[in-house]
Amino acid sequence: MKSIVTGGAGFLGSHLCDLLLEKGHEVICIDNLVTGNTRNIDHISSDRFTYLKHDITKPIYFGDNIDYIFHLASPASPVDYLELPIQTLKVGALGTYNMLGLAKEKKAKLLIASTSEVYGDPLVNPQPETYWGNVNPIGPRGVYDEAKRYAEAITMAYHRYHGIDTRIVRIFNTYGPRMRANDGRVVPNFINQALRGEDITVYGDGTQTRSFCYVSDLIDGIYRLMMSDFTEPMNIGNPAEMPVLEFAEEVIKLIESDSNITFENLPIDDPKVRRPDISRAKEVLGWEPNIGLKEGLKQTIDYFKELKEQ
Ligand SMILES: NC(=O)c1ccc[n+]([C@@H]2O[C@H](COP(=O)([O-])OP(=O)(O)OC[C@H]3O[C@@H](n4cnc5c(N)ncnc54)[C@H](O)[C@@H]3O)[C@@H](O)[C@H]2O)c1
Repeated sequence: MKSIVTGGAGFLGSHLCDLLLEKGHEVICIDNLVTGNTRNIDHISSDRFTYLKHDITKPIYFGDNIDYIFHLASPASPVDYLELPIQTLKVGALGTYNMLGLAKEKKAKLLIASTSEVYGDPLVNPQPETYWGNVNPIGPRGVYDEAKRYAEAITMAYHRYHGIDTRIVRIFNTYGPRMRANDGRVVPNFINQALRGEDITVYGDGTQTRSFCYVSDLIDGIYRLMMSDFTEPMNIGNPAEMPVLEFAEEVIKLIESDSNITFENLPIDDPKVRRPDISRAKEVLGWEPNIGLKEGLKQTIDYFKELKEQ
């Protein structure tokens, strides 16, 4: 089994490379390192692993057969995609187009990493896959949300028109080791502020909710989806929903930090609620998350502590 992982030197992609190698795949990791880092794959010594530095918005050709393409490349944190708006749109559009072309040529199965952001600031909570979303296409976050909506649309078009065997995973907030300390996402932000003893910054009044999924659960869901024959979108995330303020308090408690909480303005179009309806994943994949918040946070805090000491 030969698999390509685009974005394989990123947070999720590197964990996926680990799992695929464990399952016996030959893995080609493609990444241009725009938000990833080879540090995330340095530990891999398998001779079934190859890393290619390449920007997937440009075409790429392979002589050999490819069985699976896991297309994860894209800036993913709000800080990153607001800094890289054109690259984000290009990788969602041209990158996905190039990977679909490769899947067509190789008769490979292709999975794209979509996101809960396709639901925008949702008017329905929890969000089932049948909900079409509430996205502002021209707001600052539109570069990411619309890139992913386009990626889903072109993927379904290739599936329907060319018969490509495709999968769409809608990933909800996922956290764990190998996130960047400064990537602007709420989990590394809070943990690193608390570890430094700084105030924790909550945007808005902290009543907005999020649901956090631990990385090993998410990667297991992605693998099961690829190995299934299900071609409609699939939510993968943890339905345990909590207000962001409560989450900040939990982080302070676990780190035993004396940080205070300060409040800043909510960014434009920030979703007020976020919770996956995972009935489909349970029914079709027999999947549900196993790692609770305390356990997952402990692993993540240990990772950032270790990083701080280096
Ligand atoms: N982590 C989450 O909570 C979450 C939630 C929803 C969706 N996702 C999706 O999952 C995927 C992975 O996210 P992540 O959290 O690991 O982010 P990440 O930034 O750590 O990883 C993305 C990787 O893609 C690479 N990349 C970006 N543009 C590229 C290009 N043009 N060519 C080659 N490589 C490129 C980056 O260098 C990086 O290594 C993304 O598609 C993201 O949209 C993640």
